[in-house]
Amino acid sequence: MEFHVITLFPGMFESPLAAGMVARAIEAGLISVTAHPLRPFGLGSYRQVDDAPYGGGSGMVMRAEPIAAAIDDVMGQHPGLMRILMTPQGEPLDQSIARELARVRPGLLLIAGRYEGIDERIRSIVDREISIGDYVLSGGELPAMVTIEAVARLIPGVLGNPESLTEESFGADTLEYPHYTRPEEFRGMRVPEILLSGDHARIRAWREAQALDRTRQRRPDLLRRGRG
Ligand code: ADE
Repeated sequence: MEFHVITLFPGMFESPLAAGMVARAIEAGLISVTAHPLRPFGLGSYRQVDDAPYGGGSGMVMRAEPIAAAIDDVMGQHPGLMRILMTPQGEPLDQSIARELARVRPGLLLIAGRYEGIDERIRSIVDREISIGDYVLSGGELPAMVTIEAVARLIPGVLGNPESLTEESFGADTLEYPHYTRPEEFRGMRVPEILLSGDHARIRAWREAQALDRTRQRRPDLLRRGRG
């Protein structure tokens, strides 16, 4: 699966892609990630990409033409990508959207805005708008990386063990059960006896109950959403 990003800061994508699961998936040829610089599509000798807002007000607005030209350029070379604008006004990214996006082929073109905003008319030339949460970042680069990571790990073969996908948080509309590893006692806190029992059926039931309890306490909204 291909991930493309249009950004003023392609360098921001280097180190996050160089380590861990995403790096291994790129190495294995399961995914590719390409950061396309927006700057060359800027206007005039300064390659300007932003301008003052019509109607006044503080801050700058990203102009429509450079972004549209960059989108056309990438789509010309890689037809069929789903165009996604990263914006706090988009649909909130959750595990079910990540699952949907993981099925898109050949892949995604994520557009990372900067500054206070982008010209409203860009909205008409994207397929989807996605937010990573109800807070405002200075740009869409980190949201694009979050989206890539959330989607890439759902692609078959990217994670070593497909079971870890179905068991983990949100896979089953609950948070995860608590995990323990060695030592059996740490600062006076013991590993729950049942996990040392070797009784796999009881361990499974205990984990399910813990996951449900924890979800009820911390994120009851997830249970309501799961039923709805
Ligand atoms: N750009 C700035 N903040 C954002 C957010 N929360 N989600 C997606 N894109 C953004």
